Amino acid sequence: MSPHPAPTAPRPPLRVALAGIGVVGGGVVRLLEANRELIARRAGRSVEIVAVSARDRHKDRGIDLTRYRWEDDMDALVAADDVDVVVEMIGGADGSALTLARHALGAGKALVTANKAMIAHHGLDLARLAEERDTPLKYEAAVAGGIPVIKAIREGASANEIARVYGILNGTCNYILTQMERNGASFAEALGAAQAEGYAEADPAFDVDGIDAAHKLSILAALCFGTRLDIGAVTANGIRNLIAADIREAEALGHRVRLIGMAERNESGLYQHVQPCLVPADHPLAYVPGALNAVVAEGNFVGRLFFEGAGAGAGPTASAIVADIIDIARDEYGPAFAMPVDSLDAAPVADAGARVGKHYVRLIVEDRIGVLAEIATAMRDAGVSIESFIQRGTDEEDGVVIVLVTHAGPARAIDAALAILAKSDHVVGAPMLMPILAL
Ligand code: HSE
Repeated sequence: MSPHPAPTAPRPPLRVALAGIGVVGGGVVRLLEANRELIARRAGRSVEIVAVSARDRHKDRGIDLTRYRWEDDMDALVAADDVDVVVEMIGGADGSALTLARHALGAGKALVTANKAMIAHHGLDLARLAEERDTPLKYEAAVAGGIPVIKAIREGASANEIARVYGILNGTCNYILTQMERNGASFAEALGAAQAEGYAEADPAFDVDGIDAAHKLSILAALCFGTRLDIGAVTANGIRNLIAADIREAEALGHRVRLIGMAERNESGLYQHVQPCLVPADHPLAYVPGALNAVVAEGNFVGRLFFEGAGAGAGPTASAIVADIIDIARDEYGPAFAMPVDSLDAAPVADAGARVGKHYVRLIVEDRIGVLAEIATAMRDAGVSIESFIQRGTDEEDGVVIVLVTHAGPARAIDAALAILAKSDHVVGAPMLMPILAL
């Protein structure tokens, strides 16, 4: 039999309803209008927006929505007989986004979402509902915006065992770090620049405290390792305690600071951590500039895969959403996490304290006799071996900046040393601890 069946009668259009028309929703409308014919040829049928719904009907969005049916009540999108696919772009882990998603899947409609928080917290329940109703649940835009990394891992690399996935999963933080690198800016100045560019989330804590990256990492981990989504098991440390000296010292050590989400499955369980790290200056992640995202997945047959692209923005996010819609139009979908929910493992949480590696520790201390001895004693008592010790005599942070690089050792020893130093009257403010990645 030919693998290319002769064309049959044209299939009916795929009818799409959009819930939440903000920046991303506007991008989806524009993309479906601009590439309408190409999308119809690729999908084998036309894709039509039949209804839209958002909080404020009269807001100027710079697009003409009058040609689409407006529904004040989002649930009307789910109830409508002429809707095949509901696209959720409301945002937020719970609330109206989750209600809409549950109702849509429960009614047997396909659901496309860009909502990483909702998938991270409720992805398993939603995937189960989708399985029960045999309807698609797609979320390409939820992880790394326009980068087709969900599809690549779920399909292109699906023959591989993946032991580790890591990357730059938050564009705002990467933009801030790049600004600090290029201009010597402080964290506060660089955050201001990110907000002026419109990158930071409405509540920048989601970006700078690593929460947004944690959501994305938990989704990648489930997909890569066939484990049950467990956002509660992801540890997140953000970038707000970084100072300009950290960026300079990292560079002097031949590294760059990046907020890295890393998930690894090993004998002790599943490790999922978001934290600022020192990345070797010659690793591809060190070259990822501005608000871009990048994901590295290591497969046991394919080797290292590296994906880079825009992690946010109207165009890239719309590109990912519409790709999901095209898959649905072609009837190309399967279990949301690449295998049925009941096949996903419940992996134990790995002991993060047992991870062995070198660490960068930065302290700001009072300029007094005996402070260095105090630091050295804390390191000795906690069993931390020091590889190098830098004090440049600056007092830019209302104290003296001290940077230590440790020999490879367990993370729990460094934590113990910092717990001792936290009691010291001579250490000013919070220390900065970053793993030095050997990638
Ligand atoms: N606020 C996110 C970021 C964009 O900065 O990457 C969407 O996830």
